[in-house]
This record gives sequence, structure tokens and C-alpha cells, in this order.
Amino acid sequence: MYRTHNCGELRIGQVGQTVTLSGWLNKNRDYGAMTFIDLRDRYGITQLVFNKQTDSSLYEAAKKLGREYVLKIVGLVSERSNKNPNIPTGAIEIIVQKLAILNGSKTPPFTIEDETDGGDEIRMKYRYLDLRRKPVQENLFFRSKLAIETRKYLADQDFIEVETPVLIKSTPEGARDFVVPSRMNEGQFYALPQSPQTFKQLLMVSGFDKYFQLVKCFRDEDLRADRQPEFTQIDCEMCFVTQEQILNTFEGLTKHVFKACLDVKLPDFPRITYDEALRRYGSDKPDTRFGMEFIDFTVLTKGHDFPVFDAAEMVIGICAEGQADNYSNKDIKKLTSWLQRPQIGAKGLVYVKYNSDGSIKSSVGKFYSDEQLQTWLDKAGAKNGDMLLLLCGETDKVRSQLNELRLEMGNRMGLREGGFNPLWVVDFPLLEWDEDSARFHAMHHPFTSPKEEDKERMLTGDHATMKALRADAYDLVINGWEIGGGSIRIFDRELQAKNFKLLGFTDEEAEAQFGFLMNAFEYGAPPHGGIAFGFDRLCSIMKGASSIRDFIAFPKNNQGRDVMIDAPSPIDKTQLDELQLDLKPID
Ligand code: AMO
Repeated sequence: MYRTHNCGELRIGQVGQTVTLSGWLNKNRDYGAMTFIDLRDRYGITQLVFNKQTDSSLYEAAKKLGREYVLKIVGLVSERSNKNPNIPTGAIEIIVQKLAILNGSKTPPFTIEDETDGGDEIRMKYRYLDLRRKPVQENLFFRSKLAIETRKYLADQDFIEVETPVLIKSTPEGARDFVVPSRMNEGQFYALPQSPQTFKQLLMVSGFDKYFQLVKCFRDEDLRADRQPEFTQIDCEMCFVTQEQILNTFEGLTKHVFKACLDVKLPDFPRITYDEALRRYGSDKPDTRFGMEFIDFTVLTKGHDFPVFDAAEMVIGICAEGQADNYSNKDIKKLTSWLQRPQIGAKGLVYVKYNSDGSIKSSVGKFYSDEQLQTWLDKAGAKNGDMLLLLCGETDKVRSQLNELRLEMGNRMGLREGGFNPLWVVDFPLLEWDEDSARFHAMHHPFTSPKEEDKERMLTGDHATMKALRADAYDLVINGWEIGGGSIRIFDRELQAKNFKLLGFTDEEAEAQFGFLMNAFEYGAPPHGGIAFGFDRLCSIMKGASSIRDFIAFPKNNQGRDVMIDAPSPIDKTQLDELQLDLKPID
């Protein structure tokens, strides 16, 4: 038998018992006549004592043991004279009577402690060692609990979990596909699913009514802290539902997991439209933990011979409370350069400081009198000590630039720490104009239903009308992160064909790529809709982490590589030949 107890279990009540423990050597401290070893497993740490006087050969053997050796010991639980209140087993220690080395270990390349000395790259290469560290293990325990609670809630609501295939057909919408060559079908490829979207819709056609799946999805896109090439969704679909019922069901799921996993009671989620989100925050995923909402100064600022504002489509700004005294001219210059970086691309920044002594100072004081500037301050509801920051330009661009500034100011002012502010963003546009390909794409995906009132005017061909079409599509946003997205689906063949046409598909292309779905719509498809949550993102936001990697057991790095198994990697000539791929093998 390897153990009678685990390393986090023994307490003062077990003093006097003889126990067997197994685990890893966390730390070894020798004090001349005594050696103390911290033995670690998933459950905790227990202190072992080897006393030279009681058993000198055992003591000598223990002294030599290195970090991460795998040990089995038999010993007597004893009360510690020097108790450690910081760990649950801190009242006891084990006087070791027998020691077995189950396995040795090389010295690990970094310390396996809560705070490690290992850099990112080395910890990724030895991920199995990084995964021995408590904070990393705790992230995965949390992930597991979240998955279990998700399944509990959905099962209680009569959802059934169905697995959908991983080898599917490549589709041109959305991100790039990862493709897999088929040996048995020369020159042909499967694609890994970007999501099980079409399959879950087919399950609704089959009458499963309520489907869910915790499912791996694959997207070949540029990576960021909140993106991985393979990630997990809580993917869901329901029949005979309105958008309202879907939002309520999944608001319920979110509230349930926050309560069950964090003991946090979330309030009802506010809902705002996409248009309102852009108008108030310049983003369809606003961080609403703080205000600093956009103020429109277009009318107030025009016609005063300040050519930059006069020429601009829109002049908008934010009011940074209490910041007037914190920003010298040099600080403003720095902030301006930050906004002018190509990633943001603002032309310039205008400030108005409402100083603590009541005086007004502005970078455009030459063009506007104090009375005029006062009207801006009044519009913003500014108090003494506040500072207005204004940007101008084309509507879409200036809003996205001011969004960056708002978030940056929120960070600097400590307004983005802690707390959870979930909200639904609804009424997304049906289409999104893509400058590069000079055509419209589906904003959510091509299966999303336009709003009832927009169905008629879908194919008018005029750009402004197409931009104005709205969909029954919604996102769940928490603290500025898009946690989930979904929509009511098209379930009518004619409307689906019309939507493909709108997206620039010829009838033949639509048939070749999505004929299976459109055919299914001809056999009694019910009205349906759904949502998918980014499961990794949900874990990270709940635990206040900045990267989803921390919640993935074996994540990819920023280049999409798994540096531990060294993937992706070349394959040998035999494999290439079998797949009939005309690629040069790399030696
Ligand atoms: P969508 O593309 O919005 O919708 O994806 C749903 C959610 O998945 C998460 N997500 C990601 N997480 C980590 N890494 C990525 N690369 C990544 N990409 C997306 C986000 C996002 O909100 N089939 C539709 C859902 C539906 O309509 O029901 C879909 O996949 O949190």
C-alpha cells in the first residue's frame, strides 16, 4: 500500500497513529542532528522528521534526498513543538520509521514553489513540473469545478450533452481553419471545427430540443492573452425559444457558476444595444466597472475657428475625475504620443483642466474663451480638479481611439481592479464591412437571423442599408471581455439562401459549402437559437487572471507552439508520401 492518508490530511487528532504517506520531496532541511523534509502531494504538505539519535542510518539516507524525489514513508504522527499556523497540517509532523525511494529526480530547472524563479519559456517546456506548483494546480481545480457546475446546471434544465465531430469540412467564414489531410481521399482535407455551429443546428432539426457540449474549438488566428488556437466552449443550442428565453437561461447559468464556484451573487445583468455600447463606450465589450462615459462635444466645439475640430466628423471626450493636478504638460505629451502609436492612431489629444482653484487651462485655450470651455465642463458635469480629454475624427475611428484612452485612464486610476460587471450587448449588426476584401462579412456568422423588421430590406444592395441591418445576436460581456456570443438562427431555406447571397456567395458556392444545412431546413426545421461561452475566458475572468493560458493544462505559446512536445513539427517522408502531399520533408 502506498498510503493510508494524503499529505494534506493529518491533524492533531491523529497523533499517535502510524501512517503511510507517499509524495514528492518539496524541501529538505538538515540541522545536524535532525533532517526535516516537506512531503508534498496534491492535497498539501506534511513535515517528516528524521532523527539521527533514533535512527542514524535513516537520518543519513534522508539527508541525501534531493528535491522532487518520490518517497514513501511509514511513521508516527506526533505533535509539533514548533507549530506552523500557515498550513492545515502545521500542528503535526511524522517521525519517520521507514523510508522507500519510489523514484529519483534530477534537479528541476526551476523551483516548484508558489513563487517560482522560472521564466515563461522554461516553465512551458517543463509544463508537467510547472503543473506541480500550487497556484497552477488550483487554476485547474477551479476549471474542473466550473465544468462540473456548468454540467449540473444545464443537466438540471434538461440539456443533453452531445459530441460532434472534430474532422469536418473547411468553411471560408470567420477565422482560418486548421486543416488535416486525408490519406484515403487523395488531395482532400478535413478541417478542425472553429465551433460546432452547424452540427448543433442539425441537432435541433433532429429534435434534441436542448443541447450543450464542453467542446474544443480550433481557430488559426493571431494569438493574444485572451486567445488560443485551440480553446474550449460551453456550446449550447435550444429549440422553440425567443432571444429573451435564451438570455434568461444563460444569465441563470452565469449566476449559478459564480455562486457555486466563487460564492459571488451577481445582480441581474443590464442590457444595452450595440449602438448604445458604441456611443457610450466606443466598444461592443465595455468594461462597465467604471463610468467615464463618452461625452459628445461635436456641437459645442464647432464654429470657433479651431480648424481641427471644425473639420472633424465627431468630437468626443471623457472626464477623468480628479486628474487635473496629476497631469503636467509633459505627462499630457506622453499620453498624446501613446495615443498616436500606430496601434491606436489618434491624430492628437485636447485637454481641458478644471483646476482645483477654479481656473481653466486647455491646450486649445487660444481658440476657445473660458466661458466656452466652461460649457464643455458643464456638459461633462466636471468638478474642480477634473480633466477633460477630447479626441476628434471619423465616428468609428475616434470612438475606438477614445475607448483605448478610457481603458488606459481606467487602469491608471485603479478603476479596473476587482469586481464583476456582467452585461448583455444586444442587437448586433447583421453585417460588418471588411476594408481588405471590400465586402460584407457576417458579424456573428452566416446562420444568424436578421431582425424580423429587417428581413424585407436585406437585398436592396445599398451600402448604408446593409450596414444598418440588425440581427438577433447578443454577447455576454464581463469586465470588458467578450465571454460569450450567440444568436437566433435562420431556419428557413429561402432566408438562408438570401443571407448567403448578401454575403457574396454564389448559389453554387452556398450549395457546395452549406447544402447539407439548407437541405435539412427543408425537413421541418424548428425555430432555434443558442450561444457559446468561451470556457477558458470565463475561468480567467472569474479568477481575475490576465491570460487564459493559466487555465489551460497544456497551452500554446504566442507563436502557436507547444514547446514541450515541439509541435507543430515536420513529418517524415513516408508520412508525406502516404498523404500524397507534395511537400519537401525538412531534415
Ligand atoms: P464566437 O465566435 O463568438 O461564437 O465564440 C464564442 C466564444 O468563444 C470564445 N472564443 C475564444 N476563446 C479563446 N480563444 C479563442 N481563439 C476564441 N475565440 C472565441 C469567446 C467567444 O465569445 N458558434 C458561435 C456561437 C453561437 O452562435 O452559438 C461562436 O463560436 O469567449
